[in-house]
Amino acid sequence: MKLILLGAPGAGKGTVAKMLTKVDGSVQISTGDILRGEVQAGTELGKQAEAYMNRGDLVPDSLIMGMMEKRLQQPDTKKGFLLDGFPRTIPQAEALDQLLRKLSIHLDMVVNIDVPRDVILDRLTTRRTCSNSSCQAIYNVKSMPPKKEGICDKCGSPIVQREDETVEAISHRLDTYNQKTAPLVSYYQKKGTLKSVHGTSSDAVVQAVTSELGL
Ligand code: AP5
Repeated sequence: MKLILLGAPGAGKGTVAKMLTKVDGSVQISTGDILRGEVQAGTELGKQAEAYMNRGDLVPDSLIMGMMEKRLQQPDTKKGFLLDGFPRTIPQAEALDQLLRKLSIHLDMVVNIDVPRDVILDRLTTRRTCSNSSCQAIYNVKSMPPKKEGICDKCGSPIVQREDETVEAISHRLDTYNQKTAPLVSYYQKKGTLKSVHGTSSDAVVQAVTSELGL
């Protein structure tokens, strides 16, 4: 499947993407995970992105588009991909349209995961993430705790709270989402490719996507 997953920070895009990869071998492409990996590795891109991310601001479109143009041409995307956290602005969506045309890739659907703000705030303050940049498994101290406290079930690395998980950064990320990313819902609605799904249950989101695609 070739999908875009839209939704506010904490809507569960990463959680749903990881579940969907198991359905047909599509790969999760999370711009947030890629950027956090670059920051951890101390690359030039990571150095440029870090301050924006820690404040809860978006990283400039030019950096994101260069990164995604390369990623979408890697061979593992042939089976399908789940874009998690991208596009995030109208200019990114327009540039993605052009890029997909250039690469002759057809998107199946854009899924908007809709979750109330109070649920989102609770999820983000209780989320924990694996510190290993090549794992980045997602946990939640309330709803999805690891089997052993503080340790990733998958790779054994410590699980941590993300740098952008402070109350100030979370609230700034939600404002940024409302200003810059929420307009993408009507952008894709007009194209006729959008499906909105209530995201209170990730299983229900996965079910809605797979039945829409006949999988
Ligand atoms: P990014 O990593 O993309 O963060 P985000 O969009 O803010 O999304 P999150 O990862 O916070 O949430 P999610 O929807 O994936 O939820 P999750 O599944 O983890 O981006 C980080 C930063 O990178 C940005 O602020 C920006 O600076 C930069 N960036 C990234 N992409 C960019 C772009 N395209 N352009 C410019 N800048 C970019 O779930 C959240 C929690 O809830 C978890 O604890 C999970 O266990 C729990 N949970 C999930 N589903 C459920 C459920 N159904 N029931 C109970 N708990 C649940």
